[in-house]
Amino acid sequence: MAESITIIDNRTGDSTEIPLTNGGVSAAEFSKLLPGVWFYDPAFMSTAACESAITYLDGDAGVLRYRGYPIEQLAEHSTYLEVAYLLIHGELPTPDQYAEWSHEITYHTFIHENVRKRFLEGFHYDAHPMGMLVSAVAALSTFYSDAKDIFDADARYKQIIRLIAKMPTLAAAAHRFSVGMPFVYPDNSLDFASNFLSMMWKVAEPRFEADPVLARALDVLFILHADHEQNCSTTAMRVVGSSHADPYSSTAAAAAALYGPRHGGANEAVIRMLTEIGSIENVPAFIEGVKAGNGRLQGFGHRVYKSYDPRATIIKHTADQVFEVTGKNPLLDIALKLEEIALSDEYFISRKLYPNVDFYSGLIYQAMGFPMEMFPVLFAIPRTSGWLAHWSEMLDQDSKIARPRQLYIGTDERDYVAIDGR
Ligand code: ACO
Repeated sequence: MAESITIIDNRTGDSTEIPLTNGGVSAAEFSKLLPGVWFYDPAFMSTAACESAITYLDGDAGVLRYRGYPIEQLAEHSTYLEVAYLLIHGELPTPDQYAEWSHEITYHTFIHENVRKRFLEGFHYDAHPMGMLVSAVAALSTFYSDAKDIFDADARYKQIIRLIAKMPTLAAAAHRFSVGMPFVYPDNSLDFASNFLSMMWKVAEPRFEADPVLARALDVLFILHADHEQNCSTTAMRVVGSSHADPYSSTAAAAAALYGPRHGGANEAVIRMLTEIGSIENVPAFIEGVKAGNGRLQGFGHRVYKSYDPRATIIKHTADQVFEVTGKNPLLDIALKLEEIALSDEYFISRKLYPNVDFYSGLIYQAMGFPMEMFPVLFAIPRTSGWLAHWSEMLDQDSKIARPRQLYIGTDERDYVAIDGR
């Protein structure tokens, strides 16, 4: 079968051969037929904005792979740091490469004292930790003058290491400040997840020992959230990065996109919904309400997945392990009942609505003691490696600055009227 489509212009009878590249139609070729006419595609529903070799997602089949590796295998056998290496470099590390990578990340976890003292501590006492994180990441660009050398391979790599390493430190610092607790310095003898838990929860003990089951569960959640191809925040990263802004500023833009409840805040909405439902007996009435148009079943449905989100399957299993340590989250039974009823209901079946990654992740975070304000922050920590992989890929593709066109719907030209004449 020819890898092209033929388009006939009925006005002139001219035909044009448009090549299909990787299953996509080249807009540059197509638009030659329609000079001056723009493709109208708000929210990019039908637009592939780039080529990417990082993450493969088949929403109909429920498949997610990083650099070709199925998410199920990575979640079972790998670590977040190894996955971060995979996303950035394209290949799994050898033992030596992994040792060096882990060392680099571990020894860049400290933040400049002025980031904490002058900057983070300047926030209002009840500042939202995600707002603090977004601002603090942007502020880091002012501490590293080499951040602007984005086409210097060594300088670029150094910023990637710094960003992946410092996100947990900034995240925990934002939480500690927002609850009035003193800052905890990184403990470089701990692994990535345990170190973050130490910075979150350490009080007066000389050394914080994270429960290994909880540390592993968090690491698995970090793996599952590390990348998801061209989602809203990654698109923000690529768009801002296309102007050749430094990686801290671009990452701050991506984190800001993640802040919104339609993206990184959905698991908080799930907890609020489950709390509002209150008990299993209220589930059928709640489902009927959703079907009647009273709100949505939070944590259900996805723009791309039209079958079970593979990450939700893994998270459900992780939740069982976490609850064995923490005790069951009392909202779990309500969630299970909701899922059971929804998956056998024609409304949800016909619309291909299944649980997504957010349906169970909030239950785990809550059982582990994280306040809801920290949920998007917990998302931003691992997604940083995905953002940076896309940013670096975009720079290597020598891509143009992202600059879409618009369909102007405002008034025609008119003359200025002085204020006393209006
Ligand atoms: N509950 C009830 N009905 C739903 C839901 C839901 N969660 N999601 C979609 N529908 C229905 C819509 O009402 C619509 O029905 P209709 O055809 O009768 O009008 C149909 O399914 C299609 O819905 P759209 O809004 O067109 O689907 P879209 O792809 O634009 O939305 C989204 C995807 C935003 C994720 C949506 O499913 C939703 O709002 N889910 C709840 C919020 C949520 O869980 N977000 C997290 C997404 S995962 C992530 O970002 C990490």
